[in-house]
Amino acid sequence: MTSTATQTPDAPPPYLSVNNIEVIYDHVILVLKGVSLQVPQGKIVALLGANGAGKSTTLKTISTLLRGERGDVTKGEVQFKGERVDQLTPNELVKRGLSQVMEGRHCFGHLTIEENLLTGAYTRSISRGELKDALEKVYHYFPRLKTRRSSQAGYTSGGEQQMCAIGRALMARPSMILLDEPSMGIAPQIVEEIFGIVKDLNHKENVSFLLAEQNTNVALRYADFGYILENGRVVMEGQAQDLASNEDVKEFYLGVSSAGRKSFRDMKFYRRRKRWLA
Ligand SMILES: Nc1ncnc2c1ncn2[C@@H]1O[C@H](COP(=O)(O)OP(=O)(O)O)[C@@H](O)[C@H]1O
Ligand SMILES: [Mg+2]
Repeated sequence: MTSTATQTPDAPPPYLSVNNIEVIYDHVILVLKGVSLQVPQGKIVALLGANGAGKSTTLKTISTLLRGERGDVTKGEVQFKGERVDQLTPNELVKRGLSQVMEGRHCFGHLTIEENLLTGAYTRSISRGELKDALEKVYHYFPRLKTRRSSQAGYTSGGEQQMCAIGRALMARPSMILLDEPSMGIAPQIVEEIFGIVKDLNHKENVSFLLAEQNTNVALRYADFGYILENGRVVMEGQAQDLASNEDVKEFYLGVSSAGRKSFRDMKFYRRRKRWLA
């Protein structure tokens, strides 16, 4: 098994390990340029970065969903629980405990919330009793879904659909979830509620999370560790609280700094201050 530079000899292998992956779309567009990251078991790791940085591509590479999008992994490897998994199908990965919640809340709009949740158990051959228990567990963590169980998903709020998408992933009893932009288009109060539930699942069910987010502020408050992706490369990584208090991160991703508010779109200033790329 390969080990990474950050690993000490006695440290347990990371639960999920992405090693130097390179991804090309349509045979020509290089979007990931050697991305490496690790998720230890039982942790929440945030993958941060602006729109187009490569967060979704990284998640889809891990869950092997990239093949359906004319994307090719041209370099690197992915290991989950100490084994190489990049040749598996998404279904095989789900059976091994790794599920993805895609960006944009993929629920079936014409099905009820409960029917949506039941579709999440498709990879498992389980008894009716187990199915009922799995549903009750989802409803325990997402009481809003219980209230809305008979509503057609397409008519529920954005927050409820996001909860439904996470609940659906939970039905496969994953030990790790890749969660893509759960805050997107959702009211701040509901975002907090969703992240609170993620933290709860992490603590009580020991589910590990790799969380892609443009919302750096909220992600760093709930994550243990973070990576910042820019233009297909990891440009910074660290403990969540260290990143949250880092001046550059504050300036470019949190929109505040000791010098006042700055936008990272102010490119001239951005280049000058971006010491971590030098
Ligand atoms: N299916 C695709 N075909 C071609 N280019 C793509 C495809 N999906 C994403 N891209 C490009 O890859 C880059 C990274 O996209 P993405 O991984 O979606 O970033 P993020 O999730 O951080 O917003 C962007 O420049 C985007 O336009
Ligand atoms: Mg994305």
